[in-house]
Amino acid sequence: MAFTYEKFVAEVRDAVRSDPSGHAVAQLLRDTVADPGAVAAAIPPQDRDEVHLFEDENVSIWSCRFQPTHVIPPHEHKMPVWIAVFSGSERNIFYRRDARGLHEAGARTVAAGEVLAIGDDAIHAVTAEGSVPSHALHVYLGPLTRVKRDLFNPDSGAPVAFTDEHFERLTQRKPSAEA
Ligand SMILES: [Fe+2]
Repeated sequence: MAFTYEKFVAEVRDAVRSDPSGHAVAQLLRDTVADPGAVAAAIPPQDRDEVHLFEDENVSIWSCRFQPTHVIPPHEHKMPVWIAVFSGSERNIFYRRDARGLHEAGARTVAAGEVLAIGDDAIHAVTAEGSVPSHALHVYLGPLTRVKRDLFNPDSGAPVAFTDEHFERLTQRKPSAEA
C-alpha cells in the first residue's frame, strides 16, 4: 500500500503505544524508508520546509526538509528523536555544551533510506549535504511543541528560548552558498 502521511501517523502512534521504548518506532522507520523513492513520490507537495503531522503527550511527528544553502541553529529536543531520510542527505552536526559554551562534537550524514537515532540530551544543527534539499520524517518521543527547550547561538553558544523568531535569526547561510 502506498505511503500516506495519514497511514504513517497511525502506524507511528501504534508503534509508540505498543512499545514505549521506541524500538518498534525505529523498526517502523527503517521499514518505511527502505524504499525512499516510493515515499518521496507519494508525499504531497509542501510550500513550507517543516510540516507538523501529529502531536500528543507521547509522540510528535514532522516532515522536515532542509536546504543545502542554510544551516538551522544548534538546538535541543529533551526527548529521543529518530530521523528517517527519504530524499537527499541530511547532515547533522552535533555539539556538547559546558561552562565555556558549545563545542562541535562530530557529525553524521544520513542518506536517503537511512535512519538516525539521537538521544534526549543531544544538541544538533542541521543542513542538507550536497546541492539538493534533504527531506526526512522526524519522530520525537514526547510533546515537542509543549516542551521548554533552547536554541543556541552557533558562534557564542549562548542559549535562547526556541521561538520562531530566534530560529530565523540564528539560521545561517552557508558561506559556500551561491546568491
Ligand atoms: Fe532537531
